[in-house]
Amino acid sequence: MPPKFWKPGTVAPGSALDRESEAEGSFVSTSSQRANLSLDAQRQRLPIYKHKSKLLWCVERYQVVIVVGQTGSGKSTQIPQYLHEAGWSSDNRVVACTQPRRVAATSVATRVAEEVGTILGDEVGYSIRFEDLSSPTRTRIKYLTDGMLFRECMVDPLLSRYSVIMIDEAHERGAYTDLLLGLLKKVMKKRPELRVIISSATIDAEDFLEYFNTNADGSDRSKDDAIIVSLEGRMFPVEVCYLKDPAVDYVQMAVDTVFNIHLKEPAGDVLVFLTGRDEIDNAIQQVADRTQSMPRGAPQILALPLYATLPPEEQEIIFDPPPRDTRKVIFSTNIAEASVTIDGIKYVVDSGFVKLKTYNPRTAMDVLTVTPCSLASANQRAGRAGRTSAGKCFRLYPSAILPTRNPMSPMPIMTPPELVRSDISMFVLQLKALGIDNVAKFDFMSPPPSDMMIRALEFLFCLKAIDEEGRLTKPLGERMAEVPLDPMMAAILLNSYEFGCSEEILSIAAMTSVQNVFNMSDGGLRGAMSEVERRKFTAEEGDHLTLLNAYNAFIKHGHRDKSWCGNHRINFKALSRAVAIRKQLKKYLERFSIPIVSCDGDAVRLRKCLVSGYFKNAARMLPDGTYRSAREGAILHVHPSSVMFTRQPSTGWVIFHEVVETTKSFMRDLTVVDEEWLVELAPHYYQFKGGGIKQHQ
Ligand code: CDP
Ligand code: MG
Repeated sequence: MPPKFWKPGTVAPGSALDRESEAEGSFVSTSSQRANLSLDAQRQRLPIYKHKSKLLWCVERYQVVIVVGQTGSGKSTQIPQYLHEAGWSSDNRVVACTQPRRVAATSVATRVAEEVGTILGDEVGYSIRFEDLSSPTRTRIKYLTDGMLFRECMVDPLLSRYSVIMIDEAHERGAYTDLLLGLLKKVMKKRPELRVIISSATIDAEDFLEYFNTNADGSDRSKDDAIIVSLEGRMFPVEVCYLKDPAVDYVQMAVDTVFNIHLKEPAGDVLVFLTGRDEIDNAIQQVADRTQSMPRGAPQILALPLYATLPPEEQEIIFDPPPRDTRKVIFSTNIAEASVTIDGIKYVVDSGFVKLKTYNPRTAMDVLTVTPCSLASANQRAGRAGRTSAGKCFRLYPSAILPTRNPMSPMPIMTPPELVRSDISMFVLQLKALGIDNVAKFDFMSPPPSDMMIRALEFLFCLKAIDEEGRLTKPLGERMAEVPLDPMMAAILLNSYEFGCSEEILSIAAMTSVQNVFNMSDGGLRGAMSEVERRKFTAEEGDHLTLLNAYNAFIKHGHRDKSWCGNHRINFKALSRAVAIRKQLKKYLERFSIPIVSCDGDAVRLRKCLVSGYFKNAARMLPDGTYRSAREGAILHVHPSSVMFTRQPSTGWVIFHEVVETTKSFMRDLTVVDEEWLVELAPHYYQFKGGGIKQHQ
């Protein structure tokens, strides 16, 4: 049965689109028009173009310029170019633009290199973790993830190469964005010539202004040193429709809605917001199954995925116009909300959910959970339908859920900043490495809760990264902050020589930094085949050693042989990336003069080394097959993707890489360990009480 939508009006109640939908004179180029336009002409058609001189004037006059504009108005691609053309990158200075995601940094840099007419990595470059495509001498416009710019502060605390730093997508309030905002506030005091641009796709810019404007009393505006520039929204009206009742299965409902659009609505591409790769793959499979039964000659559907870990070649396809008589349907995570602009979208299907990393006090760790997205996100998503012409947004939930209508709504107005909802140990460690010892006094735009600060300090102490006084230990703590890995994996890598297994840990650290090592298909014959292939690498000790086996086999057989990888269901690209990452991590060990030694198959040493960093993520199996986390006693399950899914740990204990929450809390990447090792290697974390590890209740 086709889903029934209710149409309460042409725009969402209380939506930011209300005003903008009335804006006139909209003429953002459509994809078909665009194909015939030169790059210069395309640039001049962007909404930001007519604000160019005002923007440049503001950057001269104000130290901080907050730019607010709809997605697609040209903020990310144009502002750095305007600055470059106006001379902000002369005398070897560089204009930097940060992005919260790797894929955004690479895709925007690629586009801008094309517009500037240079090879990527030359005048325009990018730098993301484990991948630097920029020239220290020639690059003038540099796109980088906010995490990378933060790291640069460790080497160059005043960020002296940069004349202008643009913090893009600041509305997302990712942890590194917030940290950079705090640091830039400090740097600007020492470098009055530095300019900072904050760009945001939503209208909540006042908070940024308040945070940055040093002219606090505000009586004399001429003393302001921060200003908001609003790029008027040239949005077409978006009709928002709601489901009468909440969807039981929003993935299936999304697919139903797509077919409904395909059969009933005029031409135009569709963008569907789901929460993660599994859902996206599942939806695309459902579309494929259903299109088989469509009559011959009927208009086709081209279903494409978009998520952060999708390989770049596959991302490119998303931007291509679909073949004739075909409707393009993109199933995406919230990455398409603002970071990636796809032209030609006329219909949006919004599940109303997002996968967020949130600290769960029950398990005392960050978990990825599917939660209702915020109203700001929902409006942002709806807006994606009105970029090139009037559009429609189908929300897979009733309008009664909106927080503007229901004060008890599970849907928040804004997504809380990452720093107030997640484990901050890594950020505390890195702030300390920048010499900010009293982290609690740091000028956060939204300070993290104090109990989270205490937990982070306790954990870093147990990892031996800080001492009793809270100072970074030398050399361990300092090095942990420097290695581009989370503190647990960084500790494991830096401890690996002590355990005599640095050779193996390098491979494991690289393998846990890449995704989807095994091409596992769900169920059926292909699924069974994948499982048979993976068994060839499976180690009794668990997933980490299985990953190591796969890595070693790849080096031996699959490195230059894609068909070997195909036969063994090994993801060639993921493994190739692991090889590159391992090389980089090895350079760190060499720089720290840590010898690279092998444990020659001694799995005990290897597993103990893993415990030296992962000790917090430990769990005990109960007779009923479920697990309890070691300290908090939370109920955990083995993720079906783990080799431990069908096995039992001989010792009854495991450590794991992370927890994913869907229907239950699932541990991913497990290794069997001894209880004694936990007490021996993390005595402060587990106060040993005769009978074993003491559990908090
Ligand atoms: O940052 P903002 O969302 O304001 O816009 P943008 O990323 O600068 O994109 C402006 C326009 O450039 C988009 O509407 C696309 O037409 C084009 N663009 C593109 O073709 N390919 C990209 N990778 C990025 C942008
Ligand atoms: Mg942008």
